[in-house]
Amino acid sequence: MGRLDDRVVILTGAAKHIGQAYARRLAEEGARLAICDIADCGETEAVVKEAGAEVLPMQVDVSDETQTKQMARQVIERYGRIDGLVNNAALFNGLHLTKMEDVEMDEWDRTYAVNVKGTFLCCRAVVPYMKQANGGKIVNIGSGIFLGGLTGWPHYVSSKAAVMGLSRTLAKELGAYHITVNTLAPGGTDSGAQFHRAEDAPIDPPRHRPLDRPAVPEDLTGTLVYLLSSDSDFMTGQMVVINGGIAFY
Ligand SMILES: NC(=O)c1ccc[n+]([C@@H]2O[C@H](COP(=O)([O-])OP(=O)(O)OC[C@H]3O[C@@H](n4cnc5c(N)ncnc54)[C@H](O)[C@@H]3O)[C@@H](O)[C@H]2O)c1
Repeated sequence: MGRLDDRVVILTGAAKHIGQAYARRLAEEGARLAICDIADCGETEAVVKEAGAEVLPMQVDVSDETQTKQMARQVIERYGRIDGLVNNAALFNGLHLTKMEDVEMDEWDRTYAVNVKGTFLCCRAVVPYMKQANGGKIVNIGSGIFLGGLTGWPHYVSSKAAVMGLSRTLAKELGAYHITVNTLAPGGTDSGAQFHRAEDAPIDPPRHRPLDRPAVPEDLTGTLVYLLSSDSDFMTGQMVVINGGIAFY
């Protein structure tokens, strides 16, 4: 028996890296999945099927409200309900790691369109169905990066602070419907992602991590299962930081 048996969960940013690890674990816990990404989700679809779970792959740009509404409708058509939403999609891999003077404002706008507006639009798309069901679980993937700050990368760092603020305000609005909204905030995690670092981009000195080893996606998956399960029914508006203790919160 899995901890999420038969729960219908939408996972965005599911095509690769950490999103794929989430998909595998949710499948192993018995969830019925809708996996969404702007990129092709074929590889993750195979991973979920191998774990023996039902899966609906969808190509969705989370920054486009027509597409996020369509995403929710398709999940209802296929599964009849939506129990959970994981907003993992973000502009992260591929962003330019630059000082503030060098941030391209197009990249700033796209970062906010995906990381902040996209998270909001996916919430807005599923909430009517969760209200009808008088319950639901939303997990927004933030980042612990803004706790210590970073020399540079202001668009990404501030977008992830906004994700926490958004989760808190939605938690207040949706508590009356038994919908929980929490933030899962990883620290730097070895996901295979690549960054574009300008030659003169700052490199912060490494900070001491009490749990002294690199983080891997599997360090995050258990907490995600908890936040989607009934074990966390009385927890909302919180941010759970998983960073080996590199910054405390
Ligand atoms: N890897 C880390 O160190 C780390 C640390 C803290 C937080 N995070 C967060 O964890 C999540 C996953 O990180 P990752 O390392 O796997 O990053 P990643 O960049 O590899 O994955 C992000 C996914 O989002 C998808 N995506 C981008 N734009 C989209 C859009 N408009 N619509 C739908 N999907 C879109 C991408 O195709 C990709 O599959 C992100 O939210 C990231 O900000 C990562």
